[in-house]
Amino acid sequence: MQKIVIGNWKMNGSLQRNKDLIANLKNKLKDLDNDVECVVCPPSIYISQVAELIKNTEIKLGAQDVAYLDINAFTGEISATMFAEFNCKYIIVGHSERRHILGESDDVVADKVRQVLACGLIPILCVGETKQQRAQGQTFETISLQLKNIVDELTESCIIAYEPVWAIGTGESATPEHAQEVHAFIKKQVSFPLRVLYGGSVKPENSAELFAQQDIDGGLIGGASLKAQDFSDICHTAR
Ligand code: PGA
Repeated sequence: MQKIVIGNWKMNGSLQRNKDLIANLKNKLKDLDNDVECVVCPPSIYISQVAELIKNTEIKLGAQDVAYLDINAFTGEISATMFAEFNCKYIIVGHSERRHILGESDDVVADKVRQVLACGLIPILCVGETKQQRAQGQTFETISLQLKNIVDELTESCIIAYEPVWAIGTGESATPEHAQEVHAFIKKQVSFPLRVLYGGSVKPENSAELFAQQDIDGGLIGGASLKAQDFSDICHTAR
């Protein structure tokens, strides 16, 4: 399976910073060809700017979230149909910051995955346990529950991102062995092969060991995706 590295910019960027970051990435990623797919997910308001900036490059575009219903009366929301118009290929769904800060439930996350699939885009479905769930030995149970009401509707093109909540933005990545064990478990929940990415404090220094694991098919990168050199190094490691 082709490895994939996805940059989740979260609520970072500005017109000028996006321009600089993409210009640097274009330069640093040009030798990657088809060995690894590199994706950037800017805040929604910059999707159209970034779509223009990456035109005629191998860099692909994704969004960070999507409306769970495709209705017109939904103030503030953006539909999957709209993202598709701007050449978004991927949409992150169920990121832990949305689950935990904004209270998104598994049901809402499942509806969002359905919307993304209905528009022919690829969902990146995020799952992962909290520190407390991990301490109580509930990692596998938590992930099963997060997958339960959508797993039968996933397709081979879908991507699952394992992002242990305790590893996100903390500098404390999961060990390659822990991540591999969970990735293997996730793959067993689905009856066909699909890509499972690891996310949570991935840096150039730990990416090689993580990506060397049999069931780790790439990464979902937060902080390190904002620095062209780091993101490029991680993409090259994936190759
Ligand atoms: P991080 O974030 O790489 O900064 O830990 C990952 C994510 O939240 O997707």
